Amino acid sequence: MALSVVILAAGQGKRMHSDLPKVSQPLGGATLLEHVVRAAGALAPAHTQVIYGHGGEGVRERHAHLPVSWTLQAEQLGTGHAVMQALPQLKDADLALILYGDVPLVRPGTLKRLTDSAEKGHLAVLTARVPDPRGYGRMVRDGAGRVTRIVEEKDTSPAEKHIDEVNTGLMACNAGKLRGWLAKVGNKNAQKEYYLTDVIALAVQDGIVVDGVLADHHDEIHGINDKQQLAQAEEALRKRIAGELMLAGLTLRDPCRFDLRGSLEFGRDCVVDVNCVMEGKVTLGNRVKIGPGAVIKDCAIGDDTEVLAHSVLDGARIGRKVRIGPFARIRPETVLGDEAHVGNFVEVKKSRLGAGSKANHLAYVGDAQVGEKVNIGAGVITCNYDGVAKHTTVIEDGAFVGSDTTLVAPVTIGAGAYIGAGSTINKDAPAGQLTLARAKQTTIPGWKPPAKKS
Ligand code: UD1
Ligand code: CA
Repeated sequence: MALSVVILAAGQGKRMHSDLPKVSQPLGGATLLEHVVRAAGALAPAHTQVIYGHGGEGVRERHAHLPVSWTLQAEQLGTGHAVMQALPQLKDADLALILYGDVPLVRPGTLKRLTDSAEKGHLAVLTARVPDPRGYGRMVRDGAGRVTRIVEEKDTSPAEKHIDEVNTGLMACNAGKLRGWLAKVGNKNAQKEYYLTDVIALAVQDGIVVDGVLADHHDEIHGINDKQQLAQAEEALRKRIAGELMLAGLTLRDPCRFDLRGSLEFGRDCVVDVNCVMEGKVTLGNRVKIGPGAVIKDCAIGDDTEVLAHSVLDGARIGRKVRIGPFARIRPETVLGDEAHVGNFVEVKKSRLGAGSKANHLAYVGDAQVGEKVNIGAGVITCNYDGVAKHTTVIEDGAFVGSDTTLVAPVTIGAGAYIGAGSTINKDAPAGQLTLARAKQTTIPGWKPPAKKS
């Protein structure tokens, strides 16, 4: 049976109070919808359809990269009505898996249990036992434990309100059967909506086994309707990711205070201190240490490198035994050679620092090609921008640039050159010589301070 996935994402998400549609809201570095598509993708579906709403063009544009087709539900008349829009694209022989765009943390293994059950001819619905079932549809089972129907929160009797097994809304079944049941679903309920959940009672009438597949963990079934639930899902995801990383050998000083919003690869004995945020694609070699409060995005960091507290790194390639920070900023297209040092309040942008080069304090290195073993003193600035264009500064191997020097690009400092502190250098400085560009120091003989008028 070909697997055809339908993801419901047409709701506006009014309770978010946001201009961003609900399924475009970010969770752990991806949108809610991206999480759902990724989980479904693990089952290698033949086809995935996203049901989007009127005004949901933004959702489509934001997710143009996803391997899905888009089906419009012009009016949001309920989850059942949403699935009806998907029917023209489903073949009766397909196995349909219905997912919700606002239930993003479901695991592929759980979805597999649903489709396995549906392959046996059952209607498989994902359920969970939750400490607080408020807001969810409740699973009603008969004396023999068989699921007989789902009752929506707003339609529950006082006794049914106490049922703690809830519907997640996710289900799998034969598409032909689903078509037949949906044709019979009406909207006579508290919300005047066509409920997808009503197909369960119809399946029971047809003598089809309704298999309530219980999720391993209730974090998988978090439905996200408001910002509070979004934060709860973020917390659950953070815990899950940290758990996986630690089991794979990463030392996290505090797993509750580490946010990965992308992917992380790492070697042996890496240590990440508290309150770090990693985004995009980050790779760490062996024995890399990341200090507290570091923010690292799209970087590759070599063996034995140390990133000290509160440094911000973005789009850089960093060698081995490098020391960065505390309080350093490394910007895109920067390459730091082995054993380079970039210290506090140093900003490096689109520059290459050769092996063993150092800029330890308060400097701006932008659009620079710096050789090996160069020393960049405190307060050195590359003046890379003339108001129109960016220009390159070249500093050759072994040069020593004295403190508070401004290097007016384009300019080249030759190998082994010394630049006297406080110089403004706007012509190339020859290799191996001392160049100074500053006013001579003078002392005025007999000078007296101005006298104060009484
Ligand atoms: C639904 C279930 C409820 C379950 C809960 C779990 C129904 C009738 N109820 O309730 O049993 O406990 O999810 O989270 O199915 N959507 C559309 N078009 C519509 C309506 C909804 O695409 O016309 C989409 C929404 O964008 C959302 C999903 O379907 O992604 C669920 O809709 P929502 O209104 O949030 O349903 P709940 O009231 O939470
Ligand atoms: Ca919901």
